[in-house]
Amino acid sequence: MIQPAPLPYPYDSLEPWMSEATLRFHHDGHYLRYVQRTNERTQGRFTTPSEAYFHALEIGDVGLRHQAAQAWAHERFFEGMAPPLRRGSPSPALGRALLDFADFPEALCNAAQSVFGSGWVHVVLAPLGDGPTLRIETTHGGSLPRHPAVMTPHVSEHAYYLDYPDDRPRFCQVWLRQLVDWDVASRRYVEGQRRATAVRS
Ligand SMILES: [Fe+2]
Repeated sequence: MIQPAPLPYPYDSLEPWMSEATLRFHHDGHYLRYVQRTNERTQGRFTTPSEAYFHALEIGDVGLRHQAAQAWAHERFFEGMAPPLRRGSPSPALGRALLDFADFPEALCNAAQSVFGSGWVHVVLAPLGDGPTLRIETTHGGSLPRHPAVMTPHVSEHAYYLDYPDDRPRFCQVWLRQLVDWDVASRRYVEGQRRATAVRS
C-alpha cells in the first residue's frame, strides 16, 4: 500500500508565496486522491507510486499510469519546495550547470507558459555531448520526463490560481526565486548525474 507522503513543511510556511489554502486542497485533495486511486487500481500491491507507474507501463494500463504518474510527480513537486529559511543554495556543480544554461529563468518560464492546460515542467539531466546536461521537458497527465528531473514546477491552474489568478508567468518566477528547495535540487542533480553516467557506461 502506498502511504501518502506528508507535506514536508507546515501548510502556512510557504506564505506569502504559496498560500495555506492552496497547499491544503492541493496536497490533501488532489495528491491524496491520486495516491488513493493508484492503491485502488493495484489492490495496494505497491509501496511507491514509481513501482505502480512502471507496472502500468509493463501491462499497458493507461488509467493506472495516469494516476501513478500524478502521484509521483506531486510528491516530487511538494518535496522540491521549502520555507524561506530552509531553501539552501545550489551546490557548486548545480550552480555551474544553471549558469551554463543560457537564459535559464526565461527558458523555464517560457516552457511553463507553453504548457496547454494542466501539466508539468521538468528541468532534467539529458545525456548530451560530453555528459548529462540540463534541459527542459514538459509533460501532461500520465507522462513523466524521459530523463532524471532536478526540478519540477507544476503549472496546472490548481497549483497557483488562488494566489496568482490568471498569471502563470508570475507564479513561475516566484516558484524559481522563492520556493525551490536548492538542497533537494542539488541532491537530485547528483543522483541524476550518477544515473545518467550509469546508463552511458
Ligand atoms: Fe496538482
